[in-house]
Amino acid sequence: MKTITLILALILLTLFTIFTACSKQEEPKTVAEKKTPPIQAAEKAAAAANNHNGQTIYADNCASCHNSGVMKAPKIGDTQAWTGLIAEGSESLTAVAINGKEQMPPKGGNMLLSDAEVKAAVDYMIEQSR
Ligand code: HEC
Repeated sequence: MKTITLILALILLTLFTIFTACSKQEEPKTVAEKKTPPIQAAEKAAAAANNHNGQTIYADNCASCHNSGVMKAPKIGDTQAWTGLIAEGSESLTAVAINGKEQMPPKGGNMLLSDAEVKAAVDYMIEQSR
């Protein structure tokens, strides 16, 4: 009889230990889950802000050529002209926009633009030309 009680006590102790170990493991998960929505919101806001920047940077530095397509500049919104370019990828197009090509001046002629700003403008052009 005593042995059975002892075994039962041991089983209960083991179950209790497993239970506590499990609930301890789940704790950080819950914290991470709680943190996720604000982080997602911040990332969305940052993406939206970057998108807005791209539009402004484009309007101020690139639209003079890319709205009309002068000197064979790929016209914004001209999906045919952009299909091949988009296939080259945003990084590659940004590199061309930074360094210039033929009639395309480096950074659209505004050397005060950072590389990230040029990329934002390129991404905006891509988005508008799909
Ligand atoms: C003075 C006119 C002019 C301005 C301003 C200008 N571009 Fe261009 N852009 C061109 C021309 C012309 C081409 C075509 C170059 C070629 O392929 O010969 C071109 C091509 C491009 C391409 C395609 C590159 C490729 O691989 O063929 C991208 C991307 C681009 N421009 C981005 C920009 C961005 C971003 C800005 C503003 C920061 C800008 N351009 C401002 C004239 C201009």
